[in-house]
Amino acid sequence: MKQFLLFFTLLISAIAIQAQENLPTDYLSKEFHKGRREAFRNLMPANSVAVVFSYPERVFSKDVNYNFHQNPDMYYLTGYKEPDGVLLLFKEPQGVEKYTEVLFVRERNAQKEIWTGRRLGIEGATSRLGFSNVYNGSDFNAFKIDFKKFDQIIYDKIPTDLEGNKSGFDLFGLLQIFKSKAEITNQNEASIKLFSSITNALREIKTPEEMNLMRKTVKLSCVAHNEVMKAVGPDMSENEADGIHAYIHRKYGAEGEGYPPIVGVGANGCILHYGENNSTKMDNQLLLMDVGSEYHGYSADVTRTIPANGKFTEEQKAIYQLVYDAQEEVFKICKEGTRIQDLNTKSREVITAGLIKLGIITDPQDSRIYYPHGCSHFLGLDVHDKGNYGGNLKENMILTVEPGIYIPANSKCDKKWWNIGVRIEDDIAIKKDSYENLSVESPRKWEDVEKMAAQKSTFNDMKFPKI
Ligand code: GLY
Ligand code: MN
Ligand code: MN
Repeated sequence: MKQFLLFFTLLISAIAIQAQENLPTDYLSKEFHKGRREAFRNLMPANSVAVVFSYPERVFSKDVNYNFHQNPDMYYLTGYKEPDGVLLLFKEPQGVEKYTEVLFVRERNAQKEIWTGRRLGIEGATSRLGFSNVYNGSDFNAFKIDFKKFDQIIYDKIPTDLEGNKSGFDLFGLLQIFKSKAEITNQNEASIKLFSSITNALREIKTPEEMNLMRKTVKLSCVAHNEVMKAVGPDMSENEADGIHAYIHRKYGAEGEGYPPIVGVGANGCILHYGENNSTKMDNQLLLMDVGSEYHGYSADVTRTIPANGKFTEEQKAIYQLVYDAQEEVFKICKEGTRIQDLNTKSREVITAGLIKLGIITDPQDSRIYYPHGCSHFLGLDVHDKGNYGGNLKENMILTVEPGIYIPANSKCDKKWWNIGVRIEDDIAIKKDSYENLSVESPRKWEDVEKMAAQKSTFNDMKFPKI
């Protein structure tokens, strides 16, 4: 029996250490992440240490977790994609070895890797991520660090709703160790603010490597939007349209979506972050699709609004044209130096004037009823990405431009407008004197949307058995 167990254990180890093959070749390089750590350290004040944790794992169902999504700051700074990691960055070199960074990772475990997947471990983090100081999470407690000697400890908000597991070196355990070593009883607002201001300053400007991934994620999301425009019809369900997006994202190598897809017809399109996507039919309604892929961590955020039967009604067209005009006016001021808040102001100006002209409102203040959100946000590792929203546009920022008008049933206007919800959302890169629309490949003009919708889709010919 013993021999059998030994054989079994060896077999497990052999399987667990099998290297992964045929991986994508365009992941961010370890040099990219190293460069970001150097840029972070440059912005740290003298005699400070920054501490960054992996995101928590969350329960999906009893003993099954949601697919793990790394803390974008951890990913940005390390490339580490696993839970239960800690990164320490020091402004000044430490100890006789003069190290400036330490990474703690999940310990390798052949048995667990059979169940929940490969782990990089110390060796992998050293070779693949390029760290020279890597330890297991179980070494964090014994790691010699006197947090009290630093003038500033820089960290992000610490989650307060975690439970620990038996090993003690999951995220919960690591946070307890950090809080006890650093004698943190209440989270320090100044530490959190400083962490935010450094990560905002770095992440709002995209490097060329990030720009490549952003182009890819937006481009493939446009392919998906175009295919769905061709494929939809009055009998299709919201869920199926959502599924076509998802299929195309994966076809082009995206890991998934950057946020829960919003695929809503008619009244559902008037709910800003609608996510049920469970209407079984589209009928002759307007379909609002706010769907963007996540490619190697980078999110697209594209919205197209189309008539499910391929032809806009006069009322739908009037609202659509107004949203389009607002977007066009905003594009005109998209260049380095414009205040970010001016994008919102401009779009509101156009929509307010248009709603008055159409007789939908009389008081300009009421435009907020039908256009209740802002026009632009940064886009990147987070769909609502980090950046200084009080500042000006700068070269190599990526933002959305997404005006919208939503008129739910029973609104105080002529009922011919009810249940029309339109958003048009594009992702743009800022240049010195202009901008580049990264989502230009998906049509925006109503005439072009109708033309795209009139085309045949590959999905039209797919036949599946009835069940
Ligand atoms: N997809 C969410 C947003 O447009 O902000
Ligand atoms: Mn958006
Ligand atoms: Mn969106």
